[in-house]
Amino acid sequence: MSSRELHFNAFVWPHGYHESAWRVVGEDVRTVLGLPYYADIARTAERGLLDTVFLADDIAIPEYRVAHLPQTQFDPISVLSALAGVTSHIGLVGTGSTTYSQPWELARRFATLDHLSGGRAGWNIVTTVTSLAAANFGEAAHPDHADRYARAHEFVDVVTRAWDSWEDDAIVGDRPDGVWADRAKLHAPRFHGEFYDVEGILPFPRSPQGWPVLAQAGQSAAGIGLAARYAEMVFSGPPSLEAAVTFRADLHRQAAAAGRSPEQVLVLPALMITLGGTEAEAQAKAQRLEDLSSAEFRWQNVLYTAGLDPDGFDPSAPLPASQLDIPAPSSRASQLYEATRAEPGAPLREIASRFKSGAGQFHFVGTPDQLADHILTWQDAGAVDGFTIMGSTLPHELTTFVDHVIPTLQRKGRYRTEYRGTTLREHLGLARPRGR
Ligand SMILES: Cc1cc2nc3c(=O)[nH]c(=O)nc-3n(C[C@H](O)[C@H](O)[C@H](O)COP(=O)(O)O)c2cc1C
Repeated sequence: MSSRELHFNAFVWPHGYHESAWRVVGEDVRTVLGLPYYADIARTAERGLLDTVFLADDIAIPEYRVAHLPQTQFDPISVLSALAGVTSHIGLVGTGSTTYSQPWELARRFATLDHLSGGRAGWNIVTTVTSLAAANFGEAAHPDHADRYARAHEFVDVVTRAWDSWEDDAIVGDRPDGVWADRAKLHAPRFHGEFYDVEGILPFPRSPQGWPVLAQAGQSAAGIGLAARYAEMVFSGPPSLEAAVTFRADLHRQAAAAGRSPEQVLVLPALMITLGGTEAEAQAKAQRLEDLSSAEFRWQNVLYTAGLDPDGFDPSAPLPASQLDIPAPSSRASQLYEATRAEPGAPLREIASRFKSGAGQFHFVGTPDQLADHILTWQDAGAVDGFTIMGSTLPHELTTFVDHVIPTLQRKGRYRTEYRGTTLREHLGLARPRGR
C-alpha cells in the first residue's frame, strides 16, 4: 500500500450524472423513485469497498428541469437511513443546507443517522446557491454569498456543540439505583451568537463517530475558507492536474493555519466517468450521451447551477449589464459574469455553451486501465486523495468501476482489500473528535 490510501465516494444520481443518462439506460424511468434503485447502487459500492455513497440535495427545483431531467430529490437523510438497513460498512453522506436549516435540528438528524448506521454518517455542508429556495422556506430574500458563508461558520460551530452535548460515557444504566445516564456528563450548548441561539442538549447520547464526518464543496475563497476550517472531505477541485495540485496544497496550508492537521483534510473531487472495453467504445458511449443533450437545457442549467433563475433571462441576448452589478451568488456566476464582460454583445446561449453542465466536473472517457492510471497519476502528483465517482450512467458505470478499476488498483497494492473498521472515520483514517 502506498503511503497515502486512496478513497472513493459513489455519487448517486437518477440513472447517472450525464444529463442524457435517462434516455440511454434500459430500465423503466420510474425505477429511480423506489428504494431498490438506491439499495442496488449502495450494495455495489460496498462490494467495491468504496468509502461512501453520497447524496446531493436540491431544495428548490425550477420547473424547466422536469422537462429535461429525472427529478428525484428525496430527503437525503431518509434515503440514507433506509440504506443503513441494507448495508453494513459503507459510509452514508448526505447534503444539508446551513442557510435553510436550524443547527439543532440538523445536528439531531445527522446524529440520528450516525446512530442508526453504527457510525457511518457524513454531512456535506452547503450554503445553497439557488435563490429560489428562499420562497420555499417563507423567506423574503436569499442571503448573499458573503452572508451565507458568515452564517455557515457559526452554524457548523453550533452543530458540533450540539454533537458534544453528551460525553461519550454518559450512559450509566445503573438499574439498582435507577440512574440511566449521568447528568454531570451533559454539556448543553447554551450558545448565543450573531445568527443562532441554541440552548439545550440533543435528545439522545453522543453518536458512534462523535461527529459525523464533515464534507464541503465550495470553490470560492469563502467556500475554501469554510472547508479549511471544518471539512474533513472536500468534493471540489479544478479540472487540470497542475491547478489541482495547487488547490490541495493551498487548502492544506489554510487548514494548518486554522490549527488543523492537513492529513485530516481529504480532497476527493468529482469525476464523471464513462468506461469501455476499448477507448473507441468508451468514446462512442460518451458521444451518444452528448448527441442526445439539449442546447436549451445547457444554458438554463448553467444559469441554475450558478444560482440564477433561468426564467428571468433571454438566451439570445447578453446577460444584462444591471445583472453584472449585483454581487455574484456563486463562484460559477462570477465566471459567467467575467466571460460576459470579455465578449460584449455575445448572447447568453453562446457564452453558457462553453461552460460544463452540472457541478463543473471533469469527464473521464476511456478504459478501466486508463482510469486506474489517471487516478494513480493524480494521487502521486499530490493533486487528490481519491475521487467522487459520478457514473455518467448508473448503475452501469459504477458496476464497471467496481469490477474492473478497483481490482486493478488492488493488484497494484494501491487499494484496500477489506474494510479496516466499521465506521466511516475508520475507512477514511480520520480521528474521532474527543468532545468539548
Ligand atoms: C461534487 C459537488 C457536489 C455538490 N452538491 C451540492 C448539493 O448537493 N447541494 C447544493 O446546494 N450544492 C452542491 N454543490 C455546490 C457547492 O456546495 C457550492 O455551493 C457551490 O460550489 C458554490 O459555492 P462557491 O461559490 O463557494 O463555489 C456541490 C458541488 C460539488 C462540486
